[in-house]
Amino acid sequence: MAKFDFSNRDSFGSKIGIIAAAAGSAIGLGNIWRFPYVAGENGGGAFLVIYLAFIIVIGIPVMLSEFTIGRRAQRNPFGAFRLLKPGQPWYLIGLMGIAAAFFILAFYSTIAGWTLEYLYQSIANGFSGKSPEELTAMFNSFQASGIWPVIWQVIFMFFTAFIIYRGVRNGIEKYAKILMPLLLVLIIIICIRSVTLPGAVDGLNFLFRPDFSKITPKIILEALGQAFFSLSIGMGTLITYGSYIGKKDNLNNTAISVTAADTFIAILAGIAIFPAVFAFNINPAEGESLVFITLPNIFQQMPGGYFWGLLFFLLLVIAALTSTISVLEVVVAFFSEELNINRKTATIIAAIAITILGVCCTLSQGPLQNPLIGDKELFGVLEWTSANLLLPLGGFFIVIFVGWFLGKNNVRDEVSNSGKYRVRFFSFFMVIVRILAPVAIALVFLYQLGILG
Ligand code: PFF
Repeated sequence: MAKFDFSNRDSFGSKIGIIAAAAGSAIGLGNIWRFPYVAGENGGGAFLVIYLAFIIVIGIPVMLSEFTIGRRAQRNPFGAFRLLKPGQPWYLIGLMGIAAAFFILAFYSTIAGWTLEYLYQSIANGFSGKSPEELTAMFNSFQASGIWPVIWQVIFMFFTAFIIYRGVRNGIEKYAKILMPLLLVLIIIICIRSVTLPGAVDGLNFLFRPDFSKITPKIILEALGQAFFSLSIGMGTLITYGSYIGKKDNLNNTAISVTAADTFIAILAGIAIFPAVFAFNINPAEGESLVFITLPNIFQQMPGGYFWGLLFFLLLVIAALTSTISVLEVVVAFFSEELNINRKTATIIAAIAITILGVCCTLSQGPLQNPLIGDKELFGVLEWTSANLLLPLGGFFIVIFVGWFLGKNNVRDEVSNSGKYRVRFFSFFMVIVRILAPVAIALVFLYQLGILG
């Protein structure tokens, strides 16, 4: 079989493009949909403090590890491990990442489809005059209908594939550079609206005044899990994006900027949502429906709610899109480089295959509800296995690989661009990737499996 021509590999064209693309991957439904409700369920401020500690001490080093592997090898995750440690089974970790990408995109695109429905409903003024019960019924009947969630999901996958089809520089980078600033502007406008609502201060107190008596082992581990999911760690997305980073760019600064951007947006999402939740006397621990039931309820009660709802769901769609492209890219890079399928064909094949699995996922939430394992249907099984099993396992082996197997000098060489940049805290970084991060990830992993806690 003919081999992929690596000398002609696509790459990012600018520093700002790299940051926009990688931040686009990290900033997603995890920040705007998941972070507020997980924080809400876990005590608000106390959760935030622990989350921030994990982001700084564990998140940045793990992200830097992924970039290091990717840029060193200039390959997809499977090819990267095989190139860096030939003849050893490390490539299985890359393969697991690609499988995780496949599964994650299948269920993530289900929720991404919901965001399009809710954007449509906000345009059509669909929340207006509805009671909380009616909004709940609206969400449930949308899911039960099957057809509309599938249509929206297919449309979302089409947009995702369209961008990936155009390539790294002309697709991912170009759209990230347009969409990420737009996302920032939208969330800031929504935050300003939210904090100026009467009673908003209670929401800010909830988010920023930590009540340390609320800290439990569960909160600590939930915060760590959220940090991984939010930063897109553990499945090869950042290895893939790292492989498109030029040899001159500073990986350390990129990892810090991306982590800072992701955290900033998560906090802004909290600032956008909690003041509104408190201003309207709603329980902040509403769970997964916080964004799809609680917020429409708030929008339709507040002045100008039509406009705010529209901005909010547009924000969600954009956040989801820059994340779904990063996940599809993992699979496409693998298909095109390892199976030597032309990139455009690889995009079509990967998108169709993932959409088929994704549609089954969506239907498993509606008309084809059929518990597979315990009470979990396909959606739940994929979400569970990828987020709770494959991600932590992948993250664990990635840091072990960089800490113990890649070679300290190679790591230093890559992180410092062959000594060009002074890397402060290098020894600290090595301690984290060798010991602290693997232990922390192992704890989350065992907890998720129900062995701990
Ligand atoms: N980080 C994304 C979010 O917060 O929504 C989700 C995600 C993307 C998770 C890519 C994992 C991944 F590899």
